[in-house]
Amino acid sequence: MTPEPHSSTGTDGPLSGPPPGCPAHGTGPGGLHRLYGPDAADLSALYDTLRAEHGPVAPALLHDDVPVWVVLGHAENLHMVRTPSQYCRDSRIWTPLQEGMVKPDHPLMPHIAWEPICSYAEGDEHLRLRGAVTGAMATIDHRGIRRYINRYTQRLVNTFCEQGRADLVSQFAEHLPMGVMCEILGLPEEYNDRMVQAARDMLKGTETAIASHGYVMEALQRLTARRRAQPEEDLASQLIAQPAGLTDDEVTKHLWVVLMAAYEATVNLTANVLRMVLTDPRFRAQLNGGQMTVPEAVEQSLWDEPPFSTVFAYFAKQETELGGQRIRKGDGLLFGIAPGNVDPRVRPDLAANMQGNRSHLAFGGGPHECPGQDIGRAIADTGVDALLLRLPDVQLSCEEDELRWTESISSRHLAELPVHFEPKPQQDVKARPGHAAIPPQRGTWQVGTARPEAAPPEHTAPAATPAAPVSPPAPIAEHPRRQGVLRRLLRWWRGE
Ligand code: HEM
Repeated sequence: MTPEPHSSTGTDGPLSGPPPGCPAHGTGPGGLHRLYGPDAADLSALYDTLRAEHGPVAPALLHDDVPVWVVLGHAENLHMVRTPSQYCRDSRIWTPLQEGMVKPDHPLMPHIAWEPICSYAEGDEHLRLRGAVTGAMATIDHRGIRRYINRYTQRLVNTFCEQGRADLVSQFAEHLPMGVMCEILGLPEEYNDRMVQAARDMLKGTETAIASHGYVMEALQRLTARRRAQPEEDLASQLIAQPAGLTDDEVTKHLWVVLMAAYEATVNLTANVLRMVLTDPRFRAQLNGGQMTVPEAVEQSLWDEPPFSTVFAYFAKQETELGGQRIRKGDGLLFGIAPGNVDPRVRPDLAANMQGNRSHLAFGGGPHECPGQDIGRAIADTGVDALLLRLPDVQLSCEEDELRWTESISSRHLAELPVHFEPKPQQDVKARPGHAAIPPQRGTWQVGTARPEAAPPEHTAPAATPAAPVSPPAPIAEHPRRQGVLRRLLRWWRGE
């Protein structure tokens, strides 16, 4: 590929267009666009503009007009994350940082500051740290996770079911991943509103973010010390036991990485899937006869509204070329998940259903590809399914176009999801979610199921733990709506 004329984002050559600080700079054609301030009020529109002006890799400006490349193409993003010989996640080689352009109070500093954790490591050190995380995660019992998800869903729904209304972002989506992750890590007793508040605080970067960071880190340090002394069946104990021989500090830092990586992304995914369920006509089976299952809604949402819109950042280890642009050693590149997912070369029709196609960029790729994707998917799809079982008549309480998001370069977060439903009684948190207390017909929402599969006879009352072998249930080809009931019954039967 012949490199086209380009503008460098490095500082070792002239930037195309006027220099930072020039009044003409920032918004006009030929100038560099800012990924912050008024230019960035609608980031997806800005990415379209950048793509139209520069192609799949575009120069742009971060806060304080620090230059960066935005990788917009699907193929270019994949090439970057999968080519560790040319790109790494070690910000210490970033030219603007080395040259002092990036001030210590830069808003992106939490993403920029290098730490000895797997997210920023490469080569053998990355293998050692990531190997410990994935080795510990491989011991997680996935059926157990679905049980926690059901239990925390019951617990959360109990806090608002009698009122007949709720905000499913602040009362459900922001809590469920924290409850489940605290269980997985080994901190069930630490899960409370303060922990959720601390995590939200850190992500929003409010003035109490440092105190909140301290609160979470102290809880994780105490956990590490307790499990070093007395291992139990949880991720903290497994991390300590890995052959990588992590120090206490490394264990604590990686528990933090797992908790925070899991928390923000899964909150966004759960909220986005709930919104889709409440607004997408494909869920209105009674209206159009069609169906979309919750796992399919999860996958569609990972294409359309990836929980992390971008990852800051990858850094060029050598002079190279990407998407027709000449990239200099030390340049920073924004991993463009949201713009890559809507690259017209892979999605000429954005309205087309992406069912069965998992090649979105939501979980990254290459050596740093998310190791927790199955857990993130499980929290969103099991949690949403269980909530709908408790509140089958749930309806959005406002017009869809009244919903608001808060947006930053790294993510887009639904601010509120107000809903109403007929008040329901509380349920035992250990029971399977259901809606026995209300009339048997479902409400407007018909949550589908995946594929037809074997199910136990509907009239048999399943034992919580079948004591004796049972004969294999016969496959039943059923109407899709009936499959939904049977599938959930089957999950209950299996203790999932
Ligand atoms: C919907 C949920 C999730 C999404 C969309 C997501 C997405 C991502 C992305 C985009 C990355 C970074 C890729 C890169 O640096 O190039 C990542 C890394 C990571 N994620 Fe997730 N994640 C999710 C849930 C989770 C969960 C539940 C866990 C843990 C249980 C987890 C653990 C991690 C870890 C440890 C890394 C760092 C891996 C490394 O650098 O080698 N994530 N995730």
